[in-house]
Amino acid sequence: MSSIRPLGRMLVSKAKNKTVEIDATKVSLGSFYTTQSTWLTPEIRKFLAKALKASNGLLLDPFAGDGHLLTAVSQDAELTKLVSETNGFDVQGSKWAINDSLLKIPNPSKAVIVTNPPYLANHSARRKGVSSLVAKYFENSTQTNLYKIALDNALAVSDYVVAIIPETFLLSSFPKDRLELAVVIQDELFCDTDAPALVACFGKDLLEEALVYTGQKLIGKLPEILDLRKSSSQTKTKILFNEPTGRIGLRAVDGSDGISPIEFMPAASFDYPAESVVVSSRLMTYLEVPGIEDNKIQELISEANLDLNSIRGASSDLVLAPFKGNDKSGKRRRRLDYRLARSILNRAADSVLSKRP
Ligand SMILES: C[S@@+](CC[C@H](N)C(=O)[O-])C[C@H]1O[C@@H](n2cnc3c(N)ncnc32)[C@H](O)[C@@H]1O
Repeated sequence: MSSIRPLGRMLVSKAKNKTVEIDATKVSLGSFYTTQSTWLTPEIRKFLAKALKASNGLLLDPFAGDGHLLTAVSQDAELTKLVSETNGFDVQGSKWAINDSLLKIPNPSKAVIVTNPPYLANHSARRKGVSSLVAKYFENSTQTNLYKIALDNALAVSDYVVAIIPETFLLSSFPKDRLELAVVIQDELFCDTDAPALVACFGKDLLEEALVYTGQKLIGKLPEILDLRKSSSQTKTKILFNEPTGRIGLRAVDGSDGISPIEFMPAASFDYPAESVVVSSRLMTYLEVPGIEDNKIQELISEANLDLNSIRGASSDLVLAPFKGNDKSGKRRRRLDYRLARSILNRAADSVLSKRP
């Protein structure tokens, strides 16, 4: 019943119609400031140096807030000599010229854009009771998150854009043909949210070959990482997810304890009540792979876990969406979506069936 919920009441339980008060202005403006400069890695510095040289040293943050990003770049020991002028916009405050950058970003001199735009998904805006504050942006766009609208606007007016955005961007369908470099930041960047972040660097040429780093470690080219998600299976078995009587249990999220990772397992060994599985379950479930004999289920499970762990290793986990911060050992928790789970199980079924006498 989001339509009659008062502004700033976030829905926490639909069944109990329970809501809590949130800061509607802060949420709708995405006012979470970058307080650390760990995002400015050597590769990002290199990209910014090239961008600044090609743009007369002009730098612009259209969602400038306190101006941390402009300061980090213009005071960086290596970049400072390349910056000739910094400018910012914001919809609030008196530090910058007021501009609604989710509608349009004025940038006639083609300054390099460095920014950390607001993040807010259309559906979260509804759940958080702040839809009315952001509806005008979604009405004029096909995008479903404010940060993607911000990216569209920035890419329309600048040859070079460096944006701190959610890590889930990598798995999204947003066009990545101008993406040159993407650096996943594992340290905490913001003072009041632990949203997993990515620094995305876009150039003016169409490349389709972005290099992806985690911190300073090169993981690979984005298309190769995304290919790990594709099914190479011959037999497309119809796998039934959220099937309480299924023979396979799936813990689809890494546990917060650091010792219970995402895993397929025999239903009998899965310590999760089958009656808790519903059609919308996404984290813990039972599933069925028809056509596999009972005595082959363990082999299928082992193959699937091997495959999962091999693609986790090859992509440094980037094929999986982040899930709720880090575990006790400090490792970012991840979630296996059913689409990828299906590809993995199909490959495992191929392998098991191919070994039949
Ligand atoms: C995530 S904060 C980033 C601030 C700063 N760049 C940083 O990283 O510390 C987003 C900023 O965008 C501003 N903002 C939100 N919606 C805006 C809009 N439509 N146009 C311009 N600025 C906006 C907010 O007021 C806030 O200061």
